[in-house]
Amino acid sequence: MIILKLGGSIITDKTKENTFKQKTMDRLSQEIKKSNKKIIIVHGAGSFGHILAKKHRLNDGYNDEGQLLGFSMTHSMVQKLNTMVLDSLHKQKINAVSIPPHSTLKLNNHELDSMDYDIFKKYLKDGFTPVTFGDVVLDEKLGFSICSGDLLIRALAECFKPEKIVFVMDEDGLYSSNPKTDKNAEFIEKTTIAEFEKLSTKLDDHADVTGGMGGKIETIKIISKMGINTVLLNGNKPDRLYHVLVGENTRCTHVYGGKK
Ligand code: IPE
Repeated sequence: MIILKLGGSIITDKTKENTFKQKTMDRLSQEIKKSNKKIIIVHGAGSFGHILAKKHRLNDGYNDEGQLLGFSMTHSMVQKLNTMVLDSLHKQKINAVSIPPHSTLKLNNHELDSMDYDIFKKYLKDGFTPVTFGDVVLDEKLGFSICSGDLLIRALAECFKPEKIVFVMDEDGLYSSNPKTDKNAEFIEKTTIAEFEKLSTKLDDHADVTGGMGGKIETIKIISKMGINTVLLNGNKPDRLYHVLVGENTRCTHVYGGKK
């Protein structure tokens, strides 16, 4: 089984509010179908979540009543994005079902408090493809906060111990520094958790509400320590996702977990 994260930057235009990249999503859906793998899909919120969440300071938790409508509207927008992702998967005859975090898990001061793993297990067992996503959720200490796709990945990785975790993003993989701002940035094809620990990669300086690339690097470290391999790839380039899903060579970054 594989856990797949479709980053918000690949399925939406992060600079323009509520802009879905339909063509890219449709091609990725085709590649997922063609791979014929058992997959749990997690997708980011991109411009359907981050802009509103920032405006209403939702990750700070409850401060004033005005935020409640912001919370509701943010959930509604990420749910709309989720429906578009599902529609794209259904066109390829993938039995995708939505598992919204706001009604299946709870946080406590940004950390996972409880999560209904059984629903994922049951759907997988019955031949469905569970699809969950970055969402606004209840938080025991803060009232509410944001559950990022990366937090979901960490939780699902621990529960399911997948054969690998695949991050689809808008860069080829990891570099020694931010390739968008540093032309000397070196591409990393393979690394281990030990080497990775030493890397002070600053891929993305713009901090969105859930931490941008810095948050992802933390996630990869945690996953690697569980002994699980991670692959990062560019979803804008046709067939790379397919090749990675079926274990063929393509341009991407492999981070080998504790086992290698
Ligand atoms: C963020 O989810 C969720 C909200 C802002 C409501 P992610 O952190 O997984 O989204 P991306 O991948 O960065 O867009």
